[in-house]
Amino acid sequence: MNFKEELQKKTEQIEIVIRKYLPKEEGYQKTVLQAMNYSVLAGGKRLRPMLMEESFRLFHGQGDVIEPFMAALEMIHNYSLVHDDLPAMDNDEFRRGRKTTWTVYGDGMAVLAGDGLLNLAFETAAGAFSYAKDFETSGKIARAIQILGAKSGVRGMIGGQTADIEAEDGKNPLTEELLLFIHENKTAALIQAALMIGAVLAGADEQAVVQMEKAAYNIGIAFQIQDDILDVTSTTEILGKPVGSDEKNHKLTYVTLKGLTESKKEVARLSEEAIAILSSFENKNEFLLQLVTSLINREK
Ligand code: IPE
Ligand code: IPE
Ligand code: MG
Ligand code: MG
Ligand code: MG
Repeated sequence: MNFKEELQKKTEQIEIVIRKYLPKEEGYQKTVLQAMNYSVLAGGKRLRPMLMEESFRLFHGQGDVIEPFMAALEMIHNYSLVHDDLPAMDNDEFRRGRKTTWTVYGDGMAVLAGDGLLNLAFETAAGAFSYAKDFETSGKIARAIQILGAKSGVRGMIGGQTADIEAEDGKNPLTEELLLFIHENKTAALIQAALMIGAVLAGADEQAVVQMEKAAYNIGIAFQIQDDILDVTSTTEILGKPVGSDEKNHKLTYVTLKGLTESKKEVARLSEEAIAILSSFENKNEFLLQLVTSLINREK
């Protein structure tokens, strides 16, 4: 199987895992449940659960304990997107080739759908304890839940989104340091959660978990720089979301700070550094290396 076929097969398998944990649309709260499923089931690359599973495999992880965490992280990612698109944030009407959640269900329901996904994520992750046959596995699951909370919270994704919004009005000097803070937190943090949780649940040692956090920092920064490049160079048809969103919102991006050429170089440099770290372990995960390489020139 070539990389493209393998990627497609794995994406389909992840889709099945995610669906298992999504709620039934019923009861008086049916509308919010529909809005949650609408946002999650719109497709998407499923990159974060994929990175998590591949990190788990890199460290010889066994069994299904990873599955609830894969679903949970994708729920958190989707909640972050539902809120990111709101009129009060990026005010965008398209995502993954269809209308954003707030455009279909209204702002109030989109806020609640995001909140619903965030809570369901932790409920789902905590369900992993049912796979724990011993004290040691329970400890790993607890640590994984803690990482999930930290990386998606105020010292992670939410922190980055905060600085991202505030950078729009230029209150703080628009420096490279600020930009890196935004990218590290709003984007790299969830990718760090993916690679770290995969490693922790597989039983990797602390040093390896730190290395995975470092690799994910690079992958995350490169991923957001590429997102910012595509916001300038791509089309809505290819991206499935509006281009020019960053300019409309006066966002601080790598492209505004350094220009396109320098930005592209930085994506390649950061990714190669990440690949070097991921190749440094005794076991090799060829698919994971190819996946990270493929992100350098991704078009969506
Ligand atoms: C979009 O993430 C938000 C960013 C952090 C740039 P993805 O590009 O992974 O979005 P989907 O899930 O594939 O739609
Ligand atoms: C989004 O960054 C990061 C998060 C949702 C946490 P962007 O605002 O650039 O993402 P897109 O371009 O809307 O997907
Ligand atoms: Mg945004
Ligand atoms: Mg946005
Ligand atoms: Mg963007």
